[in-house]
Amino acid sequence: MPESIVIVGAGGHARVIADIVRLAGRYTVVGYLDDLHPERRGASWDAGTILGGMEQLGVLRSSGVNAAFVAVGDCEARLALADRLGAAGFDLPVLMHPSAVRAGDVTMGPGSVLVAGAIVNPGARIGAHVIVNTAASVDHECVIDDGVHIACGARLGGRVHVGRGSWIGLGAVVKERVHIGSGTLVGAGSLVLKDLPDDVVAYGTPARVISHAQSHDTIRG
Ligand SMILES: CC(C)(COP(=O)(O)OP(=O)(O)OC[C@H]1O[C@@H](n2cnc3c(N)ncnc32)[C@H](O)[C@@H]1OP(=O)(O)O)[C@@H](O)C(=O)NCCC(=O)NCCS
Repeated sequence: MPESIVIVGAGGHARVIADIVRLAGRYTVVGYLDDLHPERRGASWDAGTILGGMEQLGVLRSSGVNAAFVAVGDCEARLALADRLGAAGFDLPVLMHPSAVRAGDVTMGPGSVLVAGAIVNPGARIGAHVIVNTAASVDHECVIDDGVHIACGARLGGRVHVGRGSWIGLGAVVKERVHIGSGTLVGAGSLVLKDLPDDVVAYGTPARVISHAQSHDTIRG
C-alpha cells in the first residue's frame, strides 16, 4: 500500500510534482500546504485539497504522514521550507518522472526532482532540493549544489558547477566547465560562456552581468 506524502506548495509546480508522485506509485498525496494564500485553506483545487499552511506539520506527522516534498520553484524559499520539514522529522524523497534519464552513478540529495524528459549524465552530482525541470539536461560530471533550479529546457555542458540556490533560466545554455556562483540568476535563453559570480542576475547571448541581486522576485513560482 502506498505511503502518504504531503506536498508543500499549491501552484503549477506542485501540480507537476503531484503527477510525478502519481506515476511513481510509491506515495499517495494527502494534500497540499500553502502559506502564501491563507484564504485557500480547506479549498479544493484541480490537484486536490489545501490542508492549510505549515502549522499543519505536527498534525500530519501525528496522523502518520512521514514524507513531504517542497514543490516551490523559488530557490531560497524551497531551501527554507525543506529545513522546516527536516526539523519536523519528515522524509524528503528523491522524485523522478518515468521519462527522465539518470545515469547509473548519478547521486541526488533528498528533496530533488527530475521532471519529465530531464537527462542527467554520468558522474553528475545533484545536491538536495534541486529541480531539474522539464526537458533540461545536465551533462557528465556537473556539480549542482543544494537548492538549484535548472528551468525547463536549459542545457548544461559537462563539468559545469552551479552554486547553492542559483537559477538557470528557461532554455539557457551553459558551456562546459563554466562555474556559476551561488544565489545567481541566469535569464531565460542566455548563453553562458564564462564563469559568473555569486548573487548576480546575468542574461543575454553571450550572458553578461546585469545587476547584483538581493532577491529575484521576478521568477518566484
Ligand atoms: C532575467 C529576468 C529575471 C529579468 O526580469 P526583469 O528584471 O523583470 O526584466 P524585464 O522583463 O523588466 O526586462 C528588462 C530588460 O531586460 C531584457 N531582458 C529580460 N530578460 C532577458 C533575457 N532573459 N535575455 C535577454 N534580455 C532580457 C528585456 O527585454 C528588457 O529590455 P528593454 O529594457 O530593452 O526592453 C527574466 O527576464 C528571466 O529571464 N527570468 C527567468 C524566467 C524563467 O527561467 N522561468 C522558468 C520557468 S520554469
